[in-house]
Amino acid sequence: MNGYLISRRQMLKTSSGTIVAGGLIGSSYLSGHQKISQQEEAKDVIFRTTEPRNGEPELDRLVSSWQTPTELFYVRSHAPNPRIDPNQFRLKVEGLVRKPTIFSLDELRNLPAKSTTATLTCAGNRRSEYNGTEYENMPKVSGVQWQGGTIGNATWAGTLLADVLKQVEVKEGAKHVWFEGLDQVPKDGGIIAFGGSIPIEKAMLAHGAGAPLLTHTMNGAPLTPDHGYPLRMVVPGYIGARSVKWLGKIVVSDRPSPNHFVATAYKLVTSTDPLDWAESGPIYRYPINAAICTPKPNTRVTSGPVELTGYALPSGRSGSKIKDLLISADGGQTWTRGQLTGNSQEFCWQLWKASIAVKPGTQELLLRATDSSGGFMPARVPWNAKGYLRNSWYRLPLAVD
Ligand code: MTE
Repeated sequence: MNGYLISRRQMLKTSSGTIVAGGLIGSSYLSGHQKISQQEEAKDVIFRTTEPRNGEPELDRLVSSWQTPTELFYVRSHAPNPRIDPNQFRLKVEGLVRKPTIFSLDELRNLPAKSTTATLTCAGNRRSEYNGTEYENMPKVSGVQWQGGTIGNATWAGTLLADVLKQVEVKEGAKHVWFEGLDQVPKDGGIIAFGGSIPIEKAMLAHGAGAPLLTHTMNGAPLTPDHGYPLRMVVPGYIGARSVKWLGKIVVSDRPSPNHFVATAYKLVTSTDPLDWAESGPIYRYPINAAICTPKPNTRVTSGPVELTGYALPSGRSGSKIKDLLISADGGQTWTRGQLTGNSQEFCWQLWKASIAVKPGTQELLLRATDSSGGFMPARVPWNAKGYLRNSWYRLPLAVD
């Protein structure tokens, strides 16, 4: 038998010893919640909530480099960071597989190493814009009021999910792969795990930058607690919610995960009708998006050319890259082309700069982008209950003297 595979019998024995049936909540891997203060993990982000930790960087700092330094990388967590002893840590892989297996970190490290650079973005990026004047008659969109900073581009290293699935031998009928985190999310008076789920076709990708990774390294250093230490998923091209942090369990199934964060949350629902919620599918891929990061909103400028910088994210499709980046200072009557700067890579953001003339009376700049896979930013997007996927034209208010 391969050194890192254990038999079903052994697994069950191990399960009864250390893993709580039906999940990892309360498992001995966890020795309590970690209250991480700013001193323990240096972050250069604005915390919108601290328990759990939810922070985004200032936009002008965010675009100072193509690869986002870890301390500037946004944090989106639904529960306190779990404290995980790397020696005790085990990843359980089960479901529609011939060889259910429990992996230690060392065993995962023995699989072929793989690294990739990919952008993560939260489905709620730019959510605060839903609560502007545009949708006055619609209910307020709750959730963390993110501006445009829940996006970052990092280099991730670890093991291909496809290689792990090869080890456990996926059975016929497999259609989805579920992920479960070791954090403990309070929900309706109880505790649930944070779960994700992706279609099997994506999970089995063994080549290319879109292949999902089990990651232990971020920007050349071990993952920090905020970003999922010791192991997280990275699913390039999908909303951040599918890149489950503190990964403890993988289940191969014939259906999407029933976990709250797949079955209910992270859906694009444009009404408050419960039937619509039940019928609508989970969000997987992210769409094209872009933002102006400098100058800051409401900056006072003199008439003449204004220099702008920002990011643009091509839709999360294989091969998709930003094609055009257009800015308007006259409400969309005329458009000026921005210049793409730095690297252009699929599944990664594109930095850009532009110069556009403004005059007294100019009140806002508009930004829109298109990508090579047909993605475009619409002038408006319909309201949706959870404030996801805000990718309408980016509007920057300015004061021109
Ligand atoms: N994984 C777990 N276990 N718990 C979480 O709360 N948040 C998800 C995802 N993975 C989350 C998680 C969401 S919504 C996003 S956008 C990304 O992690 C954020 O990753 P980051 O905090 O490393 O930026």
